[in-house]
Amino acid sequence: MYRSEINRIVQQSLDTLEQFQFHLPPFAHWGLTQWGEHKDACEEIFNNQLGWDITDFGKGQFDQFGLVLFTIRNGHPDNLHNQTGKMYAEKIMIARNNQKTPMHFHWNKMEDIINRNGAVLAFELYAATADEKLSEEDFSLSVDGMQRTFHSGDRLELQPGESLSLPPRIYHAFWAEQGDVLIGEVSLVNDDHLDNCFYEPIGRFPDIIEDEEPKFLLVGDYEKFL
Ligand SMILES: [Fe+2]
Repeated sequence: MYRSEINRIVQQSLDTLEQFQFHLPPFAHWGLTQWGEHKDACEEIFNNQLGWDITDFGKGQFDQFGLVLFTIRNGHPDNLHNQTGKMYAEKIMIARNNQKTPMHFHWNKMEDIINRNGAVLAFELYAATADEKLSEEDFSLSVDGMQRTFHSGDRLELQPGESLSLPPRIYHAFWAEQGDVLIGEVSLVNDDHLDNCFYEPIGRFPDIIEDEEPKFLLVGDYEKFL
């Protein structure tokens, strides 16, 4: 992705979050100068990968396959092994109308995906087999505290306020229908470098072509620029 495109997407996302009246912490708005001023106090932000995360899943068609995420809080994956510190994470995401997050599951992370506001959030769901294929078996998930049985490949639509709990090894693809959706995620510690199993091998983080100055930094930029 081009840096100019990323700058534009973050600015559009900030505008959308303002429309939805969802407020982010101060570092969501920082440019390079402010990062430089504050970086010595930002160890938790860097170590736990808090902040902006924009992906086209390596497909180069952001409008069809893409997602804007902002990790608001997270622990370090080591916290799970040591049973200490933050062991939870929270993200806010924006899916534009018909913009899809491809089929994937997590080996370790359990997550609740929440339609926070906007249009319809649609899912396609499968259990994973032991060799990480799509299972034909039925499975059961909690939808806002109520157990529901799903058949292989079933779709689920969430209206604003509704949520789905996804345990590890449940394949899920999701997208917005009939408009844009503000999506929440509450989960176990999140490790996007090691804990995503995509059904088709694709990239989780974009390669960035630097065609202008970054106006905001993505989680992958901290090492590069600070
Ligand atoms: Fe997921």
